[in-house]
Amino acid sequence: MKRPVACIAGTGRGIPAHVMTNYDFAAIGIETSHEWIVERSGIHERHIAKSETACSLGSEAARQAMQRAGVDAGQIDVIVVSTATPDRLLPATAVDIQAELGASRAAAFDISAACSGWLYALTVAEGMMASGVGETFLVIAAEKMSAITDWTDRSTCVLFGDGAGAVVLKRSQGKHASQGILSAYMRSDGTLADLLYRPNGGATTPFSAEVLADRSHYVKMSGREVFKHAVRSMADACDRALDGAKMTGADIDLLIPHQANIRIIEATAKHASIPMDKVYVNVDRYGNTSSASIPIALDEVIESGRVHEGSRILMVAFGAGFTWASMVVRL
Ligand code: UT7
Repeated sequence: MKRPVACIAGTGRGIPAHVMTNYDFAAIGIETSHEWIVERSGIHERHIAKSETACSLGSEAARQAMQRAGVDAGQIDVIVVSTATPDRLLPATAVDIQAELGASRAAAFDISAACSGWLYALTVAEGMMASGVGETFLVIAAEKMSAITDWTDRSTCVLFGDGAGAVVLKRSQGKHASQGILSAYMRSDGTLADLLYRPNGGATTPFSAEVLADRSHYVKMSGREVFKHAVRSMADACDRALDGAKMTGADIDLLIPHQANIRIIEATAKHASIPMDKVYVNVDRYGNTSSASIPIALDEVIESGRVHEGSRILMVAFGAGFTWASMVVRL
């Protein structure tokens, strides 16, 4: 496949109104402190969905992205949604968004690759465009992590937040011929799945009074182990995406890493020889929004003018599965 095939024509984000700070955990009986959370993760606050859903957040992000791309819902060929927190187990959240937007001629499906899911979704969409399936794609990540968080487990509940991000993907042609995805890389290692997972509530052990009582439908994470793998895999993924684009860290205008932990972000940037003033960080304001973290960040940096047409962006993610992925994009 000769790249670039697909370019980012517009971005958007959907953020729940309610902000929960580190100080708010005391009110729900969690023994923690602002200092501990900031020192270990870099998180100060996160947005928590009250009335919002993965569908409403994803639709809001999609509407903004379509407006900025100058396309309307009727022009969308395919909607790909990355989510680890679908509103319902069946059907896909993507079809709820398709209905909400009135994207009457769009195919719609979800992708489940946890925090790496949005980069997976972009890569799948790019491949579909290359094979001629469509010309205009919505690639969305919509996460309501608060719904699968155990609010009695201090080792995980302080980490996550809710939100959505979206892009419109169009063909790299005409005056946009040099813009788009320059390289993409994806990997997984399912032998380590139990380090970050929801043990029950799926088809093997469906919801039951027992599952609810032992809280085994919530996210469990071996934080320290995940941390080590995240640092190693994100470093490797940066190398692969840079190699694929025939670039080094010096060629990158901005690194947008998955926002799980400031220490992982700093280690990733150091490995890629990218100084922190070229790294976007918003984990302090959103916590870990799983696969939504990169598209939310991308929308913020475009909106603020920190990047512009021609900017070269390296994106890299790691999450449950394990899965990891990276991409170099020229805006
Ligand atoms: O997005 C998908 C990928 N996810 C990640 O990348 C997350 C990766 N992991 C991490 O970010 C970090 O491991 C955490 C932020 C989750 C934890 O940081 P850590 O430095 O690895 O701490 P730890 O889990 O080793 O815990 C250290 C101590 C423990 O006490 P002891 O056993 O040393 O006495 C915990 O009980 O901190 C304690 N602790 C807390 N203390 C205050 C755990 N959670 C809390 C808390 N407040 N919320």
